Amino acid sequence: MSKEIVPTRYHPVHVALHWLMFLLVVMMLGVGKFVMPEVSVDDPQKPFMLQIHAFIGIFIAILLVVRLVSLFTAKRPAPADAGNAFLNFLARAVHFLLYFLLIGMAVSGLGLFQMANLSAIFSREVPYPPDFFVYLPRMGHGLVSTLLLLLTLLHVGAALYHQFILKDNLLSRMWFAKR
Ligand code: HEM
Repeated sequence: MSKEIVPTRYHPVHVALHWLMFLLVVMMLGVGKFVMPEVSVDDPQKPFMLQIHAFIGIFIAILLVVRLVSLFTAKRPAPADAGNAFLNFLARAVHFLLYFLLIGMAVSGLGLFQMANLSAIFSREVPYPPDFFVYLPRMGHGLVSTLLLLLTLLHVGAALYHQFILKDNLLSRMWFAKR
């Protein structure tokens, strides 16, 4: 019977998706939470900003589907060991929640797209509303984005803990092999 080979790093497709999504999600969270609210609804650029936001959000949702397929089809390295059962459990829970919350952002965003008739706002057929909170998915979008921001910070903190305190070079598992 042949022994199954466990890889020492993630598949290159998964690695590329991880870093591309990380950049896009951090940018979306930063701009969505701290830049967009500062732009007045009367600013002529406001609908355009939201349109870019919606496009990138939909792109992230597509990348997420590809990533979940790659996660379940390609072989993965063994779960990382932080040397503590609770931390190992926390890592699994955070990874699961990061995927779950991203799905929540995409679903609530698409819900808003439909309910608030965003395409009419983008084409300027209707004015930008004073706020979107009259639509239920806007509450979910705001709440989930805060949780996603906190968990992303925890995730980055954990990676730095492995890299610089445990010094186990865990980050190399999420990078491309040297040739
Ligand atoms: C992973 C994908 C996404 C991320 C990370 C994201 C992030 C954010 C953030 C951080 C906010 C501000 C939330 C707050 O603090 O209350 C926001 C607002 C918003 N997002 Fe997204 N979003 C995503 C996808 C989408 C999609 C796909 C759409 C629509 C197709 C969308 C439409 C909106 C709308 C309409 C608002 C409210 C803008 C306003 O109040 O002027 N988002 N988003």
